[in-house]
Amino acid sequence: ATILVLHGPNLNMLGTREPSLYGNETLSDIDDRLHETATAAGHHLMHLQSNAEYELIDRVHEARREGVDFILINPAAWTHTSVALRDALLATDIPFIEVHLSNVHAREPFRHHSYFSDVAAGVICGLGSQSYDLALQAAMTRLNDSR
Ligand code: DQA
Repeated sequence: ATILVLHGPNLNMLGTREPSLYGNETLSDIDDRLHETATAAGHHLMHLQSNAEYELIDRVHEARREGVDFILINPAAWTHTSVALRDALLATDIPFIEVHLSNVHAREPFRHHSYFSDVAAGVICGLGSQSYDLALQAAMTRLNDSR
């Protein structure tokens, strides 16, 4: 199956960005590991990080045309603001898991609300980069079960 991993704004800064909150790994460390895990299990994994909202929206639209089976998305700050990205995901009807490195519920009140959680297949947050690994495991389990 085909899995698309999407990362929102500022996640290109991982490794140096507030390491006490987000860890020391870079985004390519995370993407490389996800790619390895998915490939070893016989899946095809693609990823995109963008600081431009329309690029992620366009990528979601393209995912539908490509027949992507599952999306893992860390919308980053857009989690708390983007009706547009939420609507794009709803328009594709592709199941997705919402991922966060930090525990957004233990942070500022404005991070407690997500425009994605109520329409996500699941939400994983607070476990650092492992949040992504666990989301990938869950996605692969679902994909195998639906075969
Ligand atoms: C984040 C949490 C968001 O509140 C924040 O804006 C981010 C990263 C996380 O992965 O913990 O940029 O999505």
